[in-house]
Amino acid sequence: MKEFSNDIDKILFTEQQLYKRVKELAEEINNYYKGEPIIAVFVLKGSAFFASDLIRWLNMHVSMEFMSVSSYGQETISSGKLTIKKDIDSDVRGKRVLIIEDIIDTGITLSTLKREFEKRGAEDIKVVTMLSKPSRRMVDFQADFTGFEVPDVFVVGYGLDYADKYRNLPYIASLKKHVYEKKD
Ligand code: PRP
Repeated sequence: MKEFSNDIDKILFTEQQLYKRVKELAEEINNYYKGEPIIAVFVLKGSAFFASDLIRWLNMHVSMEFMSVSSYGQETISSGKLTIKKDIDSDVRGKRVLIIEDIIDTGITLSTLKREFEKRGAEDIKVVTMLSKPSRRMVDFQADFTGFEVPDVFVVGYGLDYADKYRNLPYIASLKKHVYEKKD
């Protein structure tokens, strides 16, 4: 961990704060589904830790599915173009789907992903995100369940990365400017 410490600006959410908030979110989600089974879609890679921690507190049957997607910049908002790099294995027609994300930034990924599940005929689609950056929205999108809102700073840890690094930090922190402003 030593080499990380120079790169971290400020810890925004400690391990204990994350643990507590994840349990609270699970309670909200349990109240919503009232024991009905769901398909939990882990949106890779960022949501891996959050999704694993969250679903262990859910009290209904949960099928785990994994998906990897990318959406492209502003010019594709109208077309809502989504590239699916890895798709889920099951048919969601008539099912309840809970999409689990680490962060909603512009909102483009989640709004297009939600539309994709609508097209596939899911009966109910909900989105839970650990973090949301409302100041960065380019499309009008809100998760159904949100862990914390964050300002427009570069956040890493608990699944969130910079250049595929820092995901394994147990807390969420902002990154020092020198890290993302230097070329490596
Ligand atoms: C992040 C995050 C969302 C998306 C949100 O994924 O997990 O999927 O960006 O951004 P948006 O609201 O601006 O569309 P990323 O592409 O960084 O992939 P990763 O989870 O593998 O790190």
